[in-house]
Amino acid sequence: MPKRRRPKIDGERLPNHIGIIMDGNGRWAKTKGMARTEGHRAGSLAVRRVVRACRRLGVSHLTLFAFSAQNWGRPEYEVQALMNLLAEFIANEWQEIMDKDIRVIQLGELRRVPVDVRKQLQELIKATRTNRSMTLALALSYGAREEIIHVIRKLTRRGMKGKLNPLEIDQELVSDNLYTSSLPDPDLIIRTGGEKRISNFLLWQSAYAEFFFSKKLWPDFSVEDLYGAIAEFQKRNRRFGLTDEQVDQVQ
Ligand code: FPP
Repeated sequence: MPKRRRPKIDGERLPNHIGIIMDGNGRWAKTKGMARTEGHRAGSLAVRRVVRACRRLGVSHLTLFAFSAQNWGRPEYEVQALMNLLAEFIANEWQEIMDKDIRVIQLGELRRVPVDVRKQLQELIKATRTNRSMTLALALSYGAREEIIHVIRKLTRRGMKGKLNPLEIDQELVSDNLYTSSLPDPDLIIRTGGEKRISNFLLWQSAYAEFFFSKKLWPDFSVEDLYGAIAEFQKRNRRFGLTDEQVDQVQ
């Protein structure tokens, strides 16, 4: 097989936080005449590959959309298979996650996750809480609208107790109460599988993110593809609502 070229990227200008919507596992399996769950299994190998590559590169935060709040509506056997894969991933990768000093956190409604997987994940989160080389955020049972409602309820409760004046509610306070409070906003959001939509992922946080859409199905997404997405990100001109001249002055 010819060696694939790895696009050149500038190690000094990496996205601080990459978010990935890992789409296309089901279609990947279908093209191979396999069950959808086999696509998810192949998808978890891609997870491993991409986490390793991000850690090696020095990307400090990586968020993976592993299971959405809406995915609970999928057939029972598929939900079960995804939970089993997650449990397997935690067990198999535990040592490497520790060795590579990766902090794992979870975004979403953990209480909906089956108790055995939940406990395993909570143990991993606890064991890795002081790790510093990279943060791996697993968006699991996660929905961005649900997350925003969670913040509204939390702040409203505080207000009703007289502990919060509505005028104190600003962007910083909202960000500090999201599941992602310990993460910077994503700089780059990658979606595989050919669709161009955000599907309830990091809606608040992605206000100024750059988007990269890949036609590759997630199990086929390679380290070269990741480099390609980062190279494309590095060509973008991010203005955050300002003019080019203003941005040049700041840099
Ligand atoms: C979307 O593909 C993918 C998911 C709903 C689950 C993602 C899960 C994994 C990659 C594996 C396990 C995760 C970890 C962190 C170990 P789809 O099923 O919607 O694909 P389709 O659009 O082709 O049907």
